[in-house]
Amino acid sequence: MVQHDGYTCSTSTPKPLPTASTTEQPNKLCSQATSQRKDGQCFVATSFSCFPSAPSTSSSRLLSPLSRTSKPRSLLLAVSPIKDYTLGPNYSSYSVAAAAAAAAAPIALPSDAREPPSLGEITRPDFPILHQVVNGFNLVYLDNAVTSQKPSAVLKISAKATDAYEEARTKVANFVNAMDCKEIVFTHNATEAINLVAYSWGLSNLRPGDEVHGLIVLTVAERHSAIVPWQIVAKKTGAVLKYVGLTKEEVPDLDQFKRLLSKHTKLVVAHHISNVLGSVLLIDEIVVWSRNVGATVLVDACRSVPRMVVNVQKLDVDFLVASSHKMCGPTGIGFLYGKIKLLSSMPPCLGKFEAGTPAIGEAVGLGAAIDYLSSIIMQRIHKYENNTALSASSFAEEINWH
Ligand SMILES: Cc1ncc(COP(=O)(O)O)c(C=O)c1O
Repeated sequence: MVQHDGYTCSTSTPKPLPTASTTEQPNKLCSQATSQRKDGQCFVATSFSCFPSAPSTSSSRLLSPLSRTSKPRSLLLAVSPIKDYTLGPNYSSYSVAAAAAAAAAPIALPSDAREPPSLGEITRPDFPILHQVVNGFNLVYLDNAVTSQKPSAVLKISAKATDAYEEARTKVANFVNAMDCKEIVFTHNATEAINLVAYSWGLSNLRPGDEVHGLIVLTVAERHSAIVPWQIVAKKTGAVLKYVGLTKEEVPDLDQFKRLLSKHTKLVVAHHISNVLGSVLLIDEIVVWSRNVGATVLVDACRSVPRMVVNVQKLDVDFLVASSHKMCGPTGIGFLYGKIKLLSSMPPCLGKFEAGTPAIGEAVGLGAAIDYLSSIIMQRIHKYENNTALSASSFAEEINWH
């Protein structure tokens, strides 16, 4: 019986436990100990043979964690809860289990037996990082508690996941005809993509109190998610927001839009298809007018990307955003298209674009949705939607519903 760190330990003679490790390799089992904490929780500690030579001295000295005289090549202790285990085994439980195991029955290895490899030796080949030689020594990694290294089996899957994620990026890039995959930044949705441009490009390009750089033209038909970030950034930088109104036909007033553009215009934010009006803006013309005054153009293509061909190179837009869940894809993923020279000059808000664990599954889902839409053919979808809109419009006229 051993008292240690609030635990009471008792030991028993070797007896394989019905766990995977012990039933698979029962010959490695050396001793087994039971430890009981003051709160009544019990653990079974099982030690395995892993010593350079068959011990002729007391195994308790060899196994004890307090022992400094012996040099075990490795020591594996399996701690199995035996009663209502709610608290994870911590250092204390391991150490007490080790102490308990130390007092257990002598290791029953015949002295001439070929020593079986330790679990460390068995699993080491699975970890490519451990095959490295650093400063002439085999790499030893001791920080598994913080971040574990990955075995080849996992690395293969991870590599597959990375490939799938990048493949999804390629699909998006091809879908909108970006020049380079690097021009696609995955975001959670279009709103986040707009915010990314506002906080990254906006804050670094719009100068406080400097109206020359602070004129933004928006149409009143922009969705609030496209307006709010610019209101915040305009407030922070002193930029001025200019709104384009609607004609009496309730479509954005492009004449007013043109009149508002001036050399003070720094950015034009426009929807491609309005979620309020359903109207389609002639983005290529807007881009030409904006270019004439040196303005950058951001297009909210949430409603157009799923239903018509959107060609960013042909439109010559600087930024374009869309959301997967409007494209038959999953929620939680969207994208920002940005011309490479603009993206590379932008300070990423969170240290880098796509910071943190990427939404791999969602991106792959978006890729599958793009495959689906492409298989139908975008021109066909656009034609069908136009015809549906025309039918709906003539039906509305018929029933005089306006
Ligand atoms: C035109 C337009 N822009 C932006 C958004 C915002 O999309 P999300 O909520 O996916 O960011 C919507 C959503 O309805 C939209 O219709």
